[in-house]
Amino acid sequence: MVKQFANVYGLLLVSLVFFLLPISSLSYSGQFYTVHRHKYPFRRVLLGHEYEHYAVIFDAGSTASRVHVFRFDQNLDLLPIGDDVELYASTQPGLSSYADDPQAAASSIRPLLEKAEAVVPIELQPDTPARLGATAGLRLLNGDAAEKILEEVRKLFKHESTLKYKDDWVSILDGVQEGTYMWVTVNYLLNTLGKSYSETSATIDLGGASVQMAYAISEENANKSPQVIANETYVLQKNLKGTNYNLYVHSYLSYGSKAARAEIFKASRNSTNPCILEGYEGTYTYGGVVYKASAPPTGTNMRRCRMLTRKALKINAPCKYEKCTFNGIWNGGGGDGQKNLYLSSSFYWTALDLGILKQNATAGRIRLNAYKDTAKRACATKVSNVISEFPDVQKDDIPYVCMDLVYIYTLLVDGFGLDASEKVSVVKQVTYKNSQLEAAWPLGCAIDVISSLTTKTSIEDI
Ligand SMILES: *[C@@H]1O[C@H](CO)[C@@H](O)[C@H](O)[C@H]1NC(C)=O
Ligand SMILES: *[C@@H]1O[C@H](CO)[C@@H](O)[C@H](O)[C@H]1NC(C)=O
Ligand SMILES: *[C@@H]1O[C@H](CO)[C@@H](O)[C@H](O)[C@H]1NC(C)=O
Repeated sequence: MVKQFANVYGLLLVSLVFFLLPISSLSYSGQFYTVHRHKYPFRRVLLGHEYEHYAVIFDAGSTASRVHVFRFDQNLDLLPIGDDVELYASTQPGLSSYADDPQAAASSIRPLLEKAEAVVPIELQPDTPARLGATAGLRLLNGDAAEKILEEVRKLFKHESTLKYKDDWVSILDGVQEGTYMWVTVNYLLNTLGKSYSETSATIDLGGASVQMAYAISEENANKSPQVIANETYVLQKNLKGTNYNLYVHSYLSYGSKAARAEIFKASRNSTNPCILEGYEGTYTYGGVVYKASAPPTGTNMRRCRMLTRKALKINAPCKYEKCTFNGIWNGGGGDGQKNLYLSSSFYWTALDLGILKQNATAGRIRLNAYKDTAKRACATKVSNVISEFPDVQKDDIPYVCMDLVYIYTLLVDGFGLDASEKVSVVKQVTYKNSQLEAAWPLGCAIDVISSLTTKTSIEDI
């Protein structure tokens, strides 16, 4: 009995030594750490970071560059980093301020990279993705300035970082990616990711240049998806937390909050515009084009503003499918994945600045009608009275408060066909466990990139 035991023990010992052999042949001592990735799947277990995943996400915005480091357990639940739910750091100005000096642009994020690397255990660094997504600022640079900056960032990641790196992880995010990541973030924070599509929530994100809608649809609706053109899909297949989703995502360029103003001015043919507050005589510039911004002699008129906005949205454009949103775009077929709605970015800021949400609220539940009711007040306010009527308004927005509210209401109700009496959530942050996390693309991107490393289906691959 004892002998038998010893034999088994001996065998175990031998196999353990065998098992450890490749590890001890690694030169694991700080900067000399070199690993032949993928060869040692048990490395993590042995080094005590069992099934942890880190992701390092850079958000290169127009005014600042930011880094988020997220740490997940094997169920993709967030684990703390130090005392916080994530590591976050930022630096100003944004990459686009270095249009003439791409190397300086890349150097500006080196301190962020160092902070991120400092919290990722060294043995996990080769498996930890570093992803940089650029948004508004870089998109607007002329010629190849943006690409040159991204190329320098790629060099930085490739040559100076121990994190996992791929060329196409450093890129300008397109609207579909932003919309997808927002959906993943919100559903992750609501703890609906991994559940049936019918339990998930829809997201609509109103940026400055574009508006994105994303929601999960049934297999049946996914099969009705029109094959538009090869590079423009409506439905993405994604496997997240073990569940396959058919995700309807569409980004409407020119219909973000700032771009839509230009569309509404175009619809009034650069003449006077009934959405502009009485008493204002000025111009609005978007994309280098100047538009006349002044109310007609008859004054601001909400009804006419709404008609003009419907025209700008091309509500009545021909629809080749069963049902369209606006401008001839397929609506995805609707369904349970669209029942609960989360509105973010400019939907939130407008609601906050114009008093639809309580002062300083990071989220709220409202009826879409609240935008219309506030529009009635805004459209009847003279430009000189805006600050007393709406004390939290941003100065630059004053002449456009009527236009912006009418646009949001018309977009949601006439454009997306939502019920005006429906209650929706308007969010900047969502509560997750005991923390407040931003309803923004980086977290969703982290989840997507980690899921893609384990399941090989990422929107990056499309
Ligand atoms: C799709 O490809 C066409 C032709 O190559 C191009 O003009 C268009 O901008 C592309 N659309 C998108 C959404 O990338
Ligand atoms: C619109 O009108 C303004 C002021 O009258 C003018 O400066 C501008 O060039 C016009 N823009 C277009 C696109 O016609
Ligand atoms: C909102 O925040 C500001 C600035 O931090 C503060 O002065 C104000 O009292 C807050 N308002 C409410 C209602 O909490």
